[in-house]
Amino acid sequence: MNKPLTQDELKTLVGQAALQYVQPGSIVGVGTGSTVDKFIDALAASDRAIAGAVSSSVRSTERMRALGIRILEAADVASLPVYIDGADEIDHQGHMIKGGGAALTREKIVADLAERFVCIADESKLVQTLGKFPLPVEVIPMAAAQIARRFAALGAVATLREGVVTDNGGHILDVRGLAISDPQGFEADVNQWPGVVTVGVFARNRASVCLLGTGEGVKTLSF
Ligand code: 5RP
Repeated sequence: MNKPLTQDELKTLVGQAALQYVQPGSIVGVGTGSTVDKFIDALAASDRAIAGAVSSSVRSTERMRALGIRILEAADVASLPVYIDGADEIDHQGHMIKGGGAALTREKIVADLAERFVCIADESKLVQTLGKFPLPVEVIPMAAAQIARRFAALGAVATLREGVVTDNGGHILDVRGLAISDPQGFEADVNQWPGVVTVGVFARNRASVCLLGTGEGVKTLSF
């Protein structure tokens, strides 16, 4: 019997599979994280020459630059055919929790430029209901305590991610104890709390496609 693939191998598989969504000569939106690192490596090693990439983090920018991929500023690009990124959780409608790597704000900005969001994830990320993974929320530091009180009023516990300052100078609250049954309503609601920069629910900018790494290979979920 074959040995089951490791999580790292599943990430490599979906990173490579995402290449099929990259049009030669186009500008690609690129997310952040260990799964996206696999995509970046696959892109750099492939013969699929692109015009450049719009990056969602300093981490991804550095990796792409080191591999010779040209970086363009989001402000200079009006739209992107595709944005490729990982997720911490994804449900069966393509709604996601993101921000485990603290890059959620720039990820949402770049995702918003894209016609299609292709999520790449191993099968451990597929859930029925979002919320088991602690929800990252980027906040303006002076608002963190009040935002934590608002989550407490919903029966959840928000803790400050110690020692983390985002690429935008924000702080991250990780919120435990949520079961997000209405991702769109929840995202819209929390987004309006003063001091919230970005909530890590991606419902408005949900995935159009998820390439899910499984023991049986890559499954394509379309939403
Ligand atoms: C970073 C993210 C990542 O996409 C998410 O954390 C998944 O990361 P990984 O591919 O390392 O599991 O949202 O802010």
